Amino acid sequence: MRAAFAEETDPFIYSRYSNPNTSEFVNKMCLLEGAEAGVAMASGMAAIYTSLAALLKSGDHVVSCSSVFGATHTIFSKYFPKWNIDYSYFNANHPEEIEKIIKPNTKIIYIETPTNPAIEVIDLELVGKIAKKHNVILIVDNCFATPYIQQPIKYGADIVIHSATKYIDGQGRVLGGVAVGRADLIKEIYLFGRITGPSLSPFNAWTLSKSLETLAIRIERHSENALYIAEKLESHAALQFVKYPFLPSHPHYKIAKKQMKLGGGIITFSLKEGYEAAKKMMDKLQMIKISPNLGDSRTIATHPASSTHCKLSEQERLAVGILPGLIRVSIGLENKEDILNDILQALN
Ligand SMILES: Cc1ncc(COP(=O)(O)O)c(C=O)c1O
Repeated sequence: MRAAFAEETDPFIYSRYSNPNTSEFVNKMCLLEGAEAGVAMASGMAAIYTSLAALLKSGDHVVSCSSVFGATHTIFSKYFPKWNIDYSYFNANHPEEIEKIIKPNTKIIYIETPTNPAIEVIDLELVGKIAKKHNVILIVDNCFATPYIQQPIKYGADIVIHSATKYIDGQGRVLGGVAVGRADLIKEIYLFGRITGPSLSPFNAWTLSKSLETLAIRIERHSENALYIAEKLESHAALQFVKYPFLPSHPHYKIAKKQMKLGGGIITFSLKEGYEAAKKMMDKLQMIKISPNLGDSRTIATHPASSTHCKLSEQERLAVGILPGLIRVSIGLENKEDILNDILQALN
């Protein structure tokens, strides 16, 4: 045991460090993502924060996409200045811009694809090449796609992060997070995490290991349902647009087809009549739940402008693609006609 402490290895000496359940879960995630090593955390944000805190130091610079998840944006905008860490955003529609904003002190490129909630798809091959050329660590939040749909490590990602709370569990039962990737970087993240303590509980790890047994079948069904509903809604007169990676009308359709096996379970649409109409529509939903969560077996709808993103100004929301009438729907595993009919009756 003394050697385990001294050599910072991991033979289950204390559950904050690791335990057989978290180890089993992490090993499965490494296999799915094609990663050398991994570390489990108590939530997706714990995995994101711990990774950034372990790998960055005062004076470093991070490049990220403007439509990154809200809490991740808050780490950059509110806490990075305290630690003297600088960041710049590129427009997710133009990842080639990264080349222009990389600085000599850029340590990390941090992206999500598809993004939440704008559903922009970022070209992983392109960003992987840029990261390699500039010798910068590439971190990808793969929460929306899951490793069943895309494996960012194949394109050069050094670390892949998940909110396991979402599709990895897929049934809205537990909070969890995981970071997998290059063994040297994971070691830094693990050592920081085992001291600061955002560890995944053994029970949640056990639940998540069981959840992975149904990942493939769930993602197939989420994606089949979502594509069907996106196609059916696309011509609806009340909607300005419907966004889904596998709809040919999506601006990044070609990239989505190149790097994603399926389109995933999230669609967004925007009501022409805007904010009040969207809120009214949400209130009319009967079967579909209203919640800021996603990736559940049940279909869940969110109106970002009045909920998850209500603290941003209208201008800030528009800059990241959140129109007043935008609704995000995490399509569940129910019968696809039932989901569609609930959306249609609420819209009509
Ligand atoms: C893309 C993305 N990353 C990270 C998170 C944070 O995950 P958690 O709620 O497990 O901390 C979320 C939560 O919605 C998310 O959508």
